[in-house]
Amino acid sequence: MDALAITGGSSLFGETRIYGAKNAALPILAATVMVEGTCVIDDVPHLEDVRVMAEILRALGATVERSGLQVTVDSTNIRLTNVPADLMQRMRSSIFLMGPLLARFGEVRVSKPGGCVIGQRPVDYHLTGMRALGAAVEEKHGYIRCTARRLQGTTVTLDFPSVGATENLIMAAALADGVTVIENAAREPEIIDLANFLKSCGALIEGAGETMIQVTGVHHLTGTQHRIMGDRIVAGTVLIAAAATGGRVTVENVSPAHLGSLLAKMRESGMRVETGRDIITVESSRAWQSVDLRTEPFPGFPTDLQAPFMAMLTTAQGTSLVRENVFEARFKHVNELTRMGADISVDLRTAVIRGVDKLSGARVECSDLRGGAALVIAGLMADGVTHVEGLHHIDRGYQSIEMHLRDLGADIERVQL
Ligand code: EPZ
Repeated sequence: MDALAITGGSSLFGETRIYGAKNAALPILAATVMVEGTCVIDDVPHLEDVRVMAEILRALGATVERSGLQVTVDSTNIRLTNVPADLMQRMRSSIFLMGPLLARFGEVRVSKPGGCVIGQRPVDYHLTGMRALGAAVEEKHGYIRCTARRLQGTTVTLDFPSVGATENLIMAAALADGVTVIENAAREPEIIDLANFLKSCGALIEGAGETMIQVTGVHHLTGTQHRIMGDRIVAGTVLIAAAATGGRVTVENVSPAHLGSLLAKMRESGMRVETGRDIITVESSRAWQSVDLRTEPFPGFPTDLQAPFMAMLTTAQGTSLVRENVFEARFKHVNELTRMGADISVDLRTAVIRGVDKLSGARVECSDLRGGAALVIAGLMADGVTHVEGLHHIDRGYQSIEMHLRDLGADIERVQL
């Protein structure tokens, strides 16, 4: 079984260019099925979830070719609107195909995406939005089937600023009749990237990145070329690893505005942070202070960086409070961190982290993507050797994480256990 062998104690130093964002690439690749033509997408990361999305597009009848970081999709001849169940089950983000297929073909059948370890992951906001646009939605035998002769623009107010539901609604509304207004929309930067892609295909979208988005439906979308934005979560993970190992790292191709709340917490803990246009440098203070944080939708502290940041807090001076407000079960990394010597107690959505002097290496298992990144950071910080198992979780969201970190001075390699 693949595992990472990490020998702690090395500080990370250097510069690294951050590759394209998983959470922008997935909705944008899904959106290509709306385009009668060819889309060339640049800076698409080599990740398992991206590979599954490409397989789904091929299963629907699109041609998908990859050359390096460039992916070319031609959806002219898509025939099917049923997303293959086996592929659906391998990746939650296939729910992003619901809006695009419904918008272009007037029907779609997807299997209800399963929950995952961080929470039940319902899709009720997505379905309420499709119904509001005039679709008939049927849920049975684990499938979701939506049909609509033609989607009609309307005003949709989301109960919660859901990233996925906002993205599905923008895509469905892009080919609907009339104007759709999405209220209480999510403001994540990946939504702006999706809107920029769709606008370059001819969609009429205003307000992406704000809480109110207006989409005016058009009759068809044409092919384009688009570069995926840098992955702010990968960048944040690398910056936290640099801070937690007493190093100094510069990340390029990510806007500081996309990580404002993380950088504020880094400064509050005593780290030095310098920023420029699409460049961020963090220099560790070597002895950092505890901080309290609560995850929130953008621009609040990103839930995807809660686990990596908690790893850094395990050896902070003082006690930190971490409140996870976005997902109901996103502390699965805590048990493994405590096995490495961390002092953490959890009560529902709040974790209390009492700083200890040092972590000690151990054999640990990750159970989700960002929790896995937290265990890698803990291994870099710990005395001795840490073996991190369950790499398939990490490989879903980080491109060759061991090579990325080794280039910055980490003592880390992928081994067979
Ligand atoms: C996206 O997931 C990201 N995934 C997640 O990243 C990220 O953690 C999340 O947004 C929040 O930023 C992709 O973009 C592919 P939500 P998504 O809908 O769209 C509840 C990672 O590690 N909810 O904003 O699923 C939901 O259960 C992944 O890269 C409903 O109740 O997130 C959660 O508690 C993990 N009903 C909250 O809203 C719905 O219909 C936020 O979910 C939809 C969501």
